Amino acid sequence: MQKLKLAIQKKGRLSDDSINLINECGISFPKSSGKLVTAAYDFPMEILFLRDDDIPDYVQDGVADIGIVGENVLVESGKNVDVVSQIGFGKCRLSLAVPRNITYNNLKELEGKAIATSYPKILQSYLEQHQVQADIHVISGSVEIAPSIGLADAICDIVSTGSTLLSNGLKEVETIFQSQAVLIKNQQLSAEKNEILNQLVFRMEAVRRAQKNKYILLNAPNASLEKIISLLPGINSPTVQALAKEGWSSVHSVITEKDFWEKIQQLKDAGAEGILVMPIEKLIY
Ligand code: PRP
Ligand code: ZN
Repeated sequence: MQKLKLAIQKKGRLSDDSINLINECGISFPKSSGKLVTAAYDFPMEILFLRDDDIPDYVQDGVADIGIVGENVLVESGKNVDVVSQIGFGKCRLSLAVPRNITYNNLKELEGKAIATSYPKILQSYLEQHQVQADIHVISGSVEIAPSIGLADAICDIVSTGSTLLSNGLKEVETIFQSQAVLIKNQQLSAEKNEILNQLVFRMEAVRRAQKNKYILLNAPNASLEKIISLLPGINSPTVQALAKEGWSSVHSVITEKDFWEKIQQLKDAGAEGILVMPIEKLIY
C-alpha cells in the first residue's frame, strides 16, 4: 500500500501545532529523534520534517504529497500546489515596521527608503499596488535587527505576538497580509493517495470542530424549557430528559466557543441552573 508523505516544519512556529494536530487525528509516530523522515505506526503516512520555506517546493515537485505551511510562505514561494483547507492555527500577519522614534503617517513616506524583508514578492506587489517605490533588501533571517545596524529604514516581517518588534525598538505601521497555516497538496496525487488524504481531512475536520465546540448540560424548570431550547439549537436539536425532581428537566446540547459567555448569560437569565460545560474530543456530523 502507498503511503501519503506529509511535510511539516521541523522547528518553528508551526511545529508543535502540526504535531499535535496529527496526534489528535489518532495518528502516532516515533518521538522526534532528529530524523528527517518517520513513518506513522497506525496510518499509511510518512512525515517529513523540513524547513518551512522549502515545503511548497517539495510539495510541488512531489517529494512530499501534502504539507502544512503558513500562507505567508506559500504565497511568497509562488509554487503551484492546491490548498486543501485552512487549518486554524499559526495565525500571524506580515507587516511593515519602522523604528519606534520615527513619526510615520502613511506609506508614501517609505518612497525611496530601504526595506529589509524575507518576503520580497509579497512586499513588492503591495508597494506596486500603492504606487510606492522602495529599495527592497532581501535577507533570510533576523530581519528585525536591520534598522538598528543601519541596513534598512524599515522592515517587512511576520508579526505574531509582536514581542520581536517590541524588543527591537520597532513599531508596526501597516499590515499587508493576514496568514494562517494551510494544508497543501501536490496537483497530481494518485487516486490511492487522494483516498488517504480524504481520510486525513475527515479526521482533521472532526478535531477542528471539536475544538470549536463544547458540550453543555444544564437543569431547567419546565416552564422555561421553550426559551432555553431556542437558545441551544445543538447539532440537530437538544436532548431533554425529565429530572427526578418534579417540574424540572435536564438539557444536553453543543455550543460554539465563539459566543460561549454570551450564551451562558442568556441561559442563566432564562432560568437554567447547574450549568456544566465540557470539552468535546471529536465531533462528527
Ligand atoms: C517570525 C518573524 C519573527 C517572529 C515574530 O518568524 O521573523 O522572528 O516570527 O513573532 P512574534 O511577533 O510573536 O515575536 P517565523 O516564525 O516565521 O520563522 P522563520 O522566518 O524562521 O521561518
Ligand atoms: Zn521560515
